[in-house]
Amino acid sequence: MKHLTALQDLFQAEVDQLNLGTAPSKLYDPMHYIMQLGGKRLRPILSLMGAGIYGDPSRAMPQAIAIELFHNFSLIHDDIMDAAPLRRGKTTVHKKWNDNVGILSGDGMLVKAYQYLAQCAPAVLPEVLQTFSQTALEVCEGQQMDMDFESMDEVAAATYIQMIQFKTSVLLGCAMKVGALVGGGSKKDADALYQFALLLGTSFQIKDDYLDVYGDPEKFGKQVGGDILSNKKTLLWIEAKRRAAVQNIDFGAYAAMEPNEEKVHSFQELYKILGVDAFAKEQIDHYYQLSLEALDSVEVPAEKLAPLKEFAAWLYSRES
Ligand code: IPE
Ligand code: IPE
Ligand code: MG
Ligand code: MG
Ligand code: MG
Repeated sequence: MKHLTALQDLFQAEVDQLNLGTAPSKLYDPMHYIMQLGGKRLRPILSLMGAGIYGDPSRAMPQAIAIELFHNFSLIHDDIMDAAPLRRGKTTVHKKWNDNVGILSGDGMLVKAYQYLAQCAPAVLPEVLQTFSQTALEVCEGQQMDMDFESMDEVAAATYIQMIQFKTSVLLGCAMKVGALVGGGSKKDADALYQFALLLGTSFQIKDDYLDVYGDPEKFGKQVGGDILSNKKTLLWIEAKRRAAVQNIDFGAYAAMEPNEEKVHSFQELYKILGVDAFAKEQIDHYYQLSLEALDSVEVPAEKLAPLKEFAAWLYSRES
């Protein structure tokens, strides 16, 4: 844990100095607002840890900033798409300002992300750029799938896994891989580390879906029940629909409920009755275990990987 908080502090110090621009204020203020809201800083920590395996973690600081900028940009746009009122316990950018401000500040952050990303040795730049660009497109694909699924009745569990890997897991993979490359790791190691973070990110997004239903609003920092209100096809939803059919429960009637508090409560109960809360926990465990196994393919002394295992355990037990 000491290692983890040290890296979080190191990164926060960098964010505190971040000057992305000043005028027009409606372009730049939201960028600083969201970057300063905090959050867990998972992706930058992964980048710093990736570099830390081979040397000084700070070597990947520009890339850590780049990836956190990209992540925060995606959150601004995601909150517009999901009509979300709360982010990290505070008002979302589009609610504090408006949708147009959120769209444009987000666009600016994407450009800024590239400027920071490119601050690395020329030898690794092509691979870094290629990894990041591919990832950014996959995040867009995952986000579109997520939106498309809202109005679909039937989504297979495997399709859901593909969707969350795109919208969420690949960015954790990218953060880890880019950190390792910039830090001097081999391409082979960087790819193995990517797999670790991809699988950990999959466990992480299933947990996010679980917390969206059962999280403590104080700790979660987002509106609890948001996924239920917009008929998101989470793993809980998909498995509940399957189990309801077996037990002759009219799942369609639940899905068709008006989006309000009552719907959220009904789903919270239904999921418990059908045991999909426990099922989600099993899946969170499953991908967590797979992520740890992926570390076996990284060709460095075991003690170099200890911080990553600590990070994974911390993420696994998160409540926010
Ligand atoms: C939120 O990511 C979006 C998802 C992919 C679930 P985080 O849970 O990492 O958000 P912050 O940065 O800690 O707020
Ligand atoms: C978000 O997934 C993934 C991206 C932001 C790309 P969610 O919509 O589940 O994230 P939260 O729950 O709003 O943080
Ligand atoms: Mg969202
Ligand atoms: Mg979303
Ligand atoms: Mg969510």
